[in-house]
This record gives sequence, C-alpha cells and structure tokens, in this order.
Amino acid sequence: MSYEIIDGKKISLQMQEEIAAEVKAFTAKGGKIPHLAAVLVGEDPASQAYVGSKVKTCEKVGFKSTLVKFPSTISEQELLNKLDELNNDKDIDGYIVQLPLPKHISEHKIIEAVKPSKDVDGFHPINVGRLVLDLPTYISATPYGITQLLERYNIETSGKNCVVIGRSHIVGSPMSILMAKNNKFANCTVTLCHSRTKDLKAHCLNADIIIAAIGKPNFVTADMVKQGCVIIDVGINRVDDASLPKGYKLVGDVDFDNCAPKCSFITPVPGGVGPMTIASLLKNTLLAAKREIYK
Ligand code: GUN
Repeated sequence: MSYEIIDGKKISLQMQEEIAAEVKAFTAKGGKIPHLAAVLVGEDPASQAYVGSKVKTCEKVGFKSTLVKFPSTISEQELLNKLDELNNDKDIDGYIVQLPLPKHISEHKIIEAVKPSKDVDGFHPINVGRLVLDLPTYISATPYGITQLLERYNIETSGKNCVVIGRSHIVGSPMSILMAKNNKFANCTVTLCHSRTKDLKAHCLNADIIIAAIGKPNFVTADMVKQGCVIIDVGINRVDDASLPKGYKLVGDVDFDNCAPKCSFITPVPGGVGPMTIASLLKNTLLAAKREIYK
C-alpha cells in the first residue's frame, strides 16, 4: 500500500509563519510583544537542546524570550522563589520549566507553583481540569501538535478506533482525552494502553489510529498494525550507532521501515511530531500574550 508521510517540519514552519503574522498584526494594533521564559535546571544534553531550540524559534516568530539556567544543585525552595518572580513579572506572558527535574525537586510542587494563566505547557492541574471539561485552556504542546497534524492532513478521525500507547502526563493521558472529545478532529473510540495492558497486539490490530508515546525504540512492529492504519510516532529515542559522528541515532517508538507499507499515513522520526511541539508552545504563548484563555 502506498502511504503518505506526515511532514511535521513543514506543518511546523507553516504554523510559525501564521504565528509571526499574528504577532505583527497584534503589535501593530498596540499589543505587546509575546514573551516566553524557559527555566532549565541542570546539564542534561537533550533538555539543553530542546530549550535551546524553543528559545531560538521565539526570535524567529518575533517573540521575546528569556532563558533562566540553574545548576542541578539548586534547592526546591530557590526554584520556587524564581517561579514566584516569573509569576509576578508583568512582561513575561508565559513560561515553562523544562522536565525532568533533579530527583530532590518535586515536579508536582513545581507544576502547581506555575501561575495557571502563564502555564503555556498546560501542565497545571487547573489547566488539565479545564481541558477535561472543554473550557478554554492551554493544551500541552505535544498533544496539541498532534491534533494539528491530523487536522491539517484532513485525516478522518470520527468514529475511528484510536489506540494511545503510554499514559504519561505530558503526552499519553492528555492525548487520550483529546481524541475522545466531541469535535471535528477527534470523536474517536479511545483505548489507552500501557505497560500492564494485556494483549497489546490485539488492541493495536483493531486500531485505525495508533499514537505511540511509550519511549521504547521500535516498540510498535508491523505485525501489530492493520492495513490502512494512521501511525503517529511520538518517541525520540537515542540508539547507539558507532558509524555516526555523534555515536547515536534518533529513532521513534515505531519500526518505521516495516510498518510504513501497511499505513495510510505515518509520521517519521525525526521530522514528524518533534517539530510540532515547539510551534504549539509558541501558539500557547501567543494566546497568553493576547489574554485569550485567561482574560
Ligand atoms: N520535557 C519533555 N517534554 C516537555 C515539555 O513539553 N515541556 C516541558 N516543560 N518539559 C518537557
């Protein structure tokens, strides 16, 4: 079967252009320049790379950005003090605290300390609750990016069986909620699978749409995929490869080469879901600057 590759890089650039145009129009009418801050704790190379590209993309679309860096030895209280400062800084419209955090800092405490109106990651319990209740909210970046891919590729979702693999707070859980909603690019019958799911293969074989967010390289194999399936691969896994200068390559949660021929649509890794995350974060920051969610 011929399949279409969902080009996340292209759609992300399209969204960035739309956001840049909105910033121009908004500031031309006297609106303030959107300002995103990112808090990075520690030296994790992947987190540094993610935060670096978030900040760089801000400049591209005409936002202000501030990077706040702390050593991994920062105490929980010191970090909470910084969040308090960001919560009260009138120029900062939204901010994120890059996860994961060092073990001595409670992620729950930090997430709850972010002012909901500035929580452009959409991780605060109030924003998650608002998502569940269909109230205006910041939808967290990766799930929002995936809904954009489905929408912009006109992928039929209504009445389809959607299997989400992985129940993380950042992707799997909000994704399962979004796909079950009563709106145009959702309306799926959703099954949320995880490490204790019995007969995952049977669930997957029944799926019209598989969203894999389990963090295990090549976890979804061709024998788990029915003909015509749409596959969204959220995984970004480093796999050792001595033949490459970096010594590793990035692979998804899906065995792309063997699954793709059975699919109607599939996202590649890299270049699929990854680039969408940043565009979605910027979209939330624009909503924050325009006070569209919290008036
Ligand atoms: N770590 C992995 N994904 C994310 C994300 O979307 N936001 C933040 N703050 N940390 C992350």
